Amino acid sequence: MVRHLPFFLSLAATEGTRVMSCFRLETDRLLLRPIERGDLPTLTSLISDWDVAKNLSRVPHPYELSMAEEYFDRQSEGLARGVDFNFGITRKTDSAYMGTCGLHLRDGGRFEIGYWIGKPYWGQGFATEAARKVAGFAFHHLKVEELDAGYFHDNAASGHVLEKIGFEPNGATQLDCLSRGHKVYCHRVVLRRENFAQKKAAA
Ligand SMILES: CC(C)(COP(=O)(O)OP(=O)(O)OC[C@H]1O[C@@H](n2cnc3c(N)ncnc32)[C@H](O)[C@@H]1OP(=O)(O)O)[C@@H](O)C(=O)NCCC(=O)NCCS
Repeated sequence: MVRHLPFFLSLAATEGTRVMSCFRLETDRLLLRPIERGDLPTLTSLISDWDVAKNLSRVPHPYELSMAEEYFDRQSEGLARGVDFNFGITRKTDSAYMGTCGLHLRDGGRFEIGYWIGKPYWGQGFATEAARKVAGFAFHHLKVEELDAGYFHDNAASGHVLEKIGFEPNGATQLDCLSRGHKVYCHRVVLRRENFAQKKAAA
């Protein structure tokens, strides 16, 4: 499904059918910007960590640079089609690339948010800060009314991040996990526009 986004027409230069990735979001401590080829060695090193990979559904383990390059091309193509919006999470103080937070348009026409942070940067509120901002992007610019997410049963930290932003339980499913090589029980959650606004105001 291809979306034609007024936001992108106004903010992005177009080159043929490709949308140039020139979007940026800012929070107190973070600059969220398009992933760059230069991030790929760091991305590979951070996402190779089993404790990161095992909590993501589509990340193989072990992980190699060539996989990051394939991912980069795929998500660039997804951005051009309006189905993938991935933000590299960088720290303002030193521009360190720490992880990724993105939105993906699923087959049912609903956007899903996903994220990961490299282990050296855990426990400092970066995932919450990034995911809250990217959720805001989905509500304000992509004009969604609801945003979906999921987290594996043994990933309480991510469940807590989502709950802090305002996500609510929305069922469960068994989801393929590439790194583990089998299906994993996955909690489904949903963020409604009004809940997001309430939680954000209270944060
Ligand atoms: C999950 C993840 C994104 C969290 O990143 P982070 O930057 O450390 O998250 P934050 O610091 O913003 O928030 C984590 C919260 O979970 C809490 N937490 C940490 N471990 C926890 C646990 N085992 N059980 C419950 N809560 C936990 C923290 O205390 C914190 O809450 P607080 O702010 O109320 O104290 C990170 O660990 C990660 O990338 N993991 C691997 C990939 C992944 O899980 N991605 C998400 C897939 S759904």
